[in-house]
Formats: sequence, C-alpha cells, structure tokens
Amino acid sequence: MASEHVSRRVFLKGASIGTVGAVAAGAVRACQAAGENAGRLAALGGTPVRTSPFPAWPPASEEVEQSLVSAFRSGKWSRTFSGGQVATFEKRFAELVGAAHCLATGSGTQALHTALHSVGVGAGDEVLVAPCTFIATVQAILMCNALPVFVDVDIDTYQMDPGSIEPLINSHTRAVEPVHIGGLPCDMERIMAIARKHGLKVVEDAAQAVLAEFRGKKCGTFGDLGCFSFQTSKVIACGEGGAIVGNDSELMEKCYAFHNMGLSAKNQSVGIGTKYRMHELEAALLNPQLATLAEQTRTRNKNAAHLAQRLAEIPGIVPQKLHEGVTQGAYYIYGFRYQKEHFNDAPKEKFLKALRAEKIPFTTMYFDQLNRQPFIDKALSLPVFQQVYSKERLNRYREQNHCPRNDQLSAEGVWLPQYVFLGDTGDMDDIVEAVAKIAANKDQLASL
Ligand SMILES: Cc1ncc(COP(=O)(O)O)c(C=O)c1O
Repeated sequence: MASEHVSRRVFLKGASIGTVGAVAAGAVRACQAAGENAGRLAALGGTPVRTSPFPAWPPASEEVEQSLVSAFRSGKWSRTFSGGQVATFEKRFAELVGAAHCLATGSGTQALHTALHSVGVGAGDEVLVAPCTFIATVQAILMCNALPVFVDVDIDTYQMDPGSIEPLINSHTRAVEPVHIGGLPCDMERIMAIARKHGLKVVEDAAQAVLAEFRGKKCGTFGDLGCFSFQTSKVIACGEGGAIVGNDSELMEKCYAFHNMGLSAKNQSVGIGTKYRMHELEAALLNPQLATLAEQTRTRNKNAAHLAQRLAEIPGIVPQKLHEGVTQGAYYIYGFRYQKEHFNDAPKEKFLKALRAEKIPFTTMYFDQLNRQPFIDKALSLPVFQQVYSKERLNRYREQNHCPRNDQLSAEGVWLPQYVFLGDTGDMDDIVEAVAKIAANKDQLASL
C-alpha cells in the first residue's frame, strides 16, 4: 500500500496541472496504476486514495507533557493572582497578537459572553453576526438577552458581507460580532468603518483565528475586544479554554470582574459576574504550544495555498477565497464549495460519502443554516425575551431573518480540518487526487 501511495504522489507531481481534464484524467490513470480497483470509487470497493493517516492532533508533545506534569506537581491548580501558568500565558498571548491585555477564560464561549456583557450588550439590544459560525457565537448574544441579527455572508470568502450590514442597523443595534470563520480574516477595514460610523461596539469572534492577519494586523485586535478558543480541535489546544484580548484597560477590568464572580483583581465586589476562569493545568498545556505556533501557521498557509490552486482546476469545486488584504490565515478549517451540477446532480451527501471512503477527513459543521435553527425561537419564547421584546418587534425580527447566500453555502460547503495542513504538499496532492477521482468517476455517485 505504501508504495502505491508513493507512486500516485510521484505521478501527480509530474502531471501537468494546466487543464482540468488533465487533473481528472491524471487521477484516473493514477488509480489505474494503483491496482485492480482502478477507477472505482473506494465507497464502491475501490482502493482509497489515502493510505496513511494525516498528522495527529492535539499535539501531545514531550514539551507539553512536561509542562503539564510540572504544573500538576506544583500543587497550584487554580489560577493564582501573582504569577503562575495562566498569568504567563496571558502575558505571552497578548504579546503574540499585539494587544495590550489578555484575559484567559475557561472557553471561547465564556470569552464571548464576558466580552459582549462587558461592552454593554444587554436585554433589548441587537447584535449583528454572521450565520456561518459555531452555535456558541450566537448563544453568547442570547445569554446577554440580546437578539442575534444575521448578516448574510459573502459567497466567495464565507465571511460576514460588509455590504449587507448597514440595512440591518437600527436604534437597538449595540454591537457587531464578526467571526473570522475558518481562521481566515473578515474584511475588518470595512466592518470597523461601518461600526465606528454608527457608534457600534465590535467584539471579534477570533475563536478560530489565532495568528490570522489582515494587512499585517492580528485578528482579535481590530475591535474593542477579540475572543479566542483553545478547545481541543483549535490551533493551540488545552481541551477547553479561551481568551479575550483588548487595549482598553478599563474594559479589560470589567471583563476580569465578570469572569471572576464580580470581583475585581483587587478582590473588591464591583458588579455581577460568574466564574469563567482558566485553570493552571490548561495554561500549562498551552504555554509550550506558543513556541511552535508560528511555524505551524506558516506550514498551514503554504499547504492551503497549494491545495486551493490545485482544487480550483477541478470543475464544480470552488475553493474558499481570501479577502484582499489577508496577509496570513490560521486555517483552522479550509473550505470549498461542491457544485453538484458538475457531478451529474449528485447531492453533496453522496460526494461526502465518496470522499470519506477515499480516507479524506472533512467536516460540514458551520454549514447548517444556523439562523434557522430551532434554538433561536426557543430562546425568544423565554419569559425574559417575551417581557423585553414586543410581539411586533419579534415578528419583524423573524421576517428579516433571511441569508440566501449562507443557505447556498450550507448546501454546497465542505471543510477540511487544520491538521491536514500540517504535513507536506504531497498530502495536499492526495486530497486533490481524491476529489479528482470522484469527479472522473461521477457516474458512480448515483450508486451510493
Ligand atoms: C467560531 C467559534 N466561536 C466560538 C467558539 C466557542 O469556543 P469554545 O468551544 O472554546 O467554547 C468556537 C469553538 O469551536 C468557534 O469555532
């Protein structure tokens, strides 16, 4: 199997990438070279294109293990207020992204809730948010008893479309929560200009965007506050963890108190709050990962660029585009659109079944028409929403909740997870080969 794998790679490296037909034909010929299952989709008994695993995640390196063990042995498992693993992480992370302050939290969701509360989002407010995101982005708004108002996405970049923001702004709009989906930056210049023009607060959901940059500036540092996630699948990971960054020390103090049961750093009760603190063992997992992050990010960028260029040669496969001005992506996930009209109208589910059988990992999470999910109506029927929002207002809210471009994205989108980009360009060629093989054998999709 290993030698077959190598021979396909060698073939692909040598193959012309000039024409679409050549890529698809190359995949067929590569499969023919692979054995008796030539040209047969793996889902129908053919040989899978990928025969070895992609790089493992999370990064259970020796450095990470030692750091964890030493924090464990220190006996200091809870956040200490002078020094310690959490404080070290906060200092380093702030430096890394170029922010004056960082506050570590127990998750990205907690970071978002804390940040939205601290910029003043509350009952009666509306927050503008993109529907192509994880449920937590929206739940954080609902947890503030505010309405998530969905701004449609740009179909090429999958990010919040700045051109769709202004028609949704009214006297209740308090904040914008742009999401750098996939860890690729939104057009923060246009979003910030609109927010400042209308006096809106900006809380960036940079959960997926550690080290992503727009015109050389790191995601999370454009708005009033930026929020990150270090959940297991993220590009630095500690199981569950998050952070808020910002430059306004007063605002960061509000965040601190909210995440610490309403107690300030000087231990004075200054307001309402909950307990959202990161613990020392989580920070001990994170600290050593900061040393390898920049190099891994460069690798992901290089591989993703190679993949995008090659996937674009296959008819019906449209890779996610980057906004002009993106100088670095985090590539937490990277997507493409599957256009079924180029695949004999085979539904995306059949394409995915074929891709899975070729042993290519993917996810369709975040392509689930979040703005239409029942949890939103459930929230709106809670007493607090019923008391604060008039029937007319809620009806208007429901009527305007349309995001046709996001609906299209939900129907067509496929994501590849970040760890597949940690290998080499040969790994990318395997992904291209798998997709090209499905394209060349699209007649077989009907049998799946
Ligand atoms: C875009 C986005 N926002 C928020 C979150 C929430 O982060 P966490 O899972 O750390 O609570 C995630 C996590 O997957 C995310 O991807």
